[in-house]
Amino acid sequence: MRTAIHRLRAGLVVLAFLILAAIPARRAPAVEPPDPAAVERGRKALLEGSYLRAEWADAAFTGASKFWGEPAPDPVADPDGYARAFGKRYGFHPAPFPNDGLPMGLKRSVRADGKTRGFQVDCMACHGGSIGGKSYVGLPNTQIDYTGFFADLFRADGRRSPLVPFVLNTARGTTNAGMMSVVLMSVRNPDLSMRPFPMPMGSNLPELDAPPWWVLKYKTKMYYDGRTPADSSRSIMQFLLAEKTADQFRELEPTFADIHAYLKSIEAPRYPFPIDQDAAGRGRAVFEKSCAGCHGTYGEMVDYPGEIVPLDVIGTDPARIAGLSDRFVEHYNGTWFAEKHPVDVDSERGYQAPPLVGIWASAPYLHNGAVPTLRTLLDSPRRPERYLRPPSTDFEHYDPRDVGWKFAEVPEGPTGAKEPRRLFDASRYGLDNGGHTFGDKLGEAERTDLIEYLKTL
Ligand code: HEC
Ligand code: HEC
Repeated sequence: MRTAIHRLRAGLVVLAFLILAAIPARRAPAVEPPDPAAVERGRKALLEGSYLRAEWADAAFTGASKFWGEPAPDPVADPDGYARAFGKRYGFHPAPFPNDGLPMGLKRSVRADGKTRGFQVDCMACHGGSIGGKSYVGLPNTQIDYTGFFADLFRADGRRSPLVPFVLNTARGTTNAGMMSVVLMSVRNPDLSMRPFPMPMGSNLPELDAPPWWVLKYKTKMYYDGRTPADSSRSIMQFLLAEKTADQFRELEPTFADIHAYLKSIEAPRYPFPIDQDAAGRGRAVFEKSCAGCHGTYGEMVDYPGEIVPLDVIGTDPARIAGLSDRFVEHYNGTWFAEKHPVDVDSERGYQAPPLVGIWASAPYLHNGAVPTLRTLLDSPRRPERYLRPPSTDFEHYDPRDVGWKFAEVPEGPTGAKEPRRLFDASRYGLDNGGHTFGDKLGEAERTDLIEYLKTL
């Protein structure tokens, strides 16, 4: 009898174990630090390596200032001053690593002829930013003006700008990385050989705000829709589709696995101003009640659920989700990029609630950068329909009370701004500023406490 009970008990333990093992862990496991040797190789590969041929000759860099309509430092007598002025003009930040005289986001390489020296954009054009006079790899570049940069650089290079079949960006700081990859992928066959004619993809993705790299380590699914496994190093190689062959992709995969490890090692900068700890403590309770279900909990350990929130619940601009066609996903999933990590075709369609670590530094908010401060994110009637992006990322333009960029509502009609592309207009395709109304019901004091807490993340 005793042995029977004993056996039964042992059986139950095994059964319970099997059941538990079969329940998928809903919470992301504790973040495992990537291999330090891979991180170091990846850091060097990303910051020092150059993976694309030069698009523009060196002379286009020094000659671009003739289109500025204002005096510029002499590129020969004052190369550093010229590089800074060039960076400010187009929204590139000083490189916090040796970059051969170029701002972060640009990289020297050789042109297609194999001889002429020139330069090209790299990952940090979109993923390298600055705040308070300090540059960070992995901080979204919220100043970049792709449209102005492309127009001037091709002109300075004595060439006509290529016809781009989509909007690069209308507002400084947003970029259409999605359409870049759709267009590059549409001229490849599944084996990555070139097609003579592009395949129609039916995708119409909008311009986007880049996500910070320091949250990648918490994610199991990446990109705004949370449909691509975050372990996919191949998916971050899509920019190389501009020129690489299938064999070159295979050769470069280990390098990009290292770069991926480096990205997962990046830490968010800490909030640099004093924090009212009592208010932050009260704010934490508000957060845990109203926000943690989607965004996770923070502290010693980050417990991040990776919640994909359906469009009808989140209510933010749908273009990023609706604009990605099933045909594109099917094509991508048939290529080398997706072999190990296909894009999920069965999951809920919506936006993934992002981890909020370092959120103080990555304004403006939402996937399209439509909301300039945390306070307006948490009080939707106060969001501006039209606002100017800050003239720089210096702290004089930063608002530590509302957390984000100081802004003024711009009336409709001519802006009077010297730079039209500083205008963010929420009525444009993909740039709607509605949705995410979860903070609206809070009282003003509660909201202020919550914002104080968010500074601690
Ligand atoms: C033209 C701007 C641009 C360039 C250049 C660029 N990215 Fe991105 N990146 C983006 C945008 C925008 C997103 C968000 C895309 C989305 O979800 O639709 C993104 C998303 C990502 C993500 C996912 C992050 C997350 O948390 O979900 C990673 C990782 C990434 N990029 C790495 C890279 C690497 C590595 C390079 C260089 C090889 C690169 N990117 C080049 C704009 C860019
Ligand atoms: C029902 C799920 C849900 C709840 C509840 C929720 N959020 Fe979010 N949150 C999201 C999603 C999804 C996004 C991304 C939306 C987008 O980019 O379009 C987001 C975006 C954000 C962002 C912008 C992130 C960025 O990088 O731009 C912040 C900040 C934020 N939420 C804070 C909060 C706070 C604070 C609360 C509590 C009052 C809260 N959220 C409640 C789902 C939620």
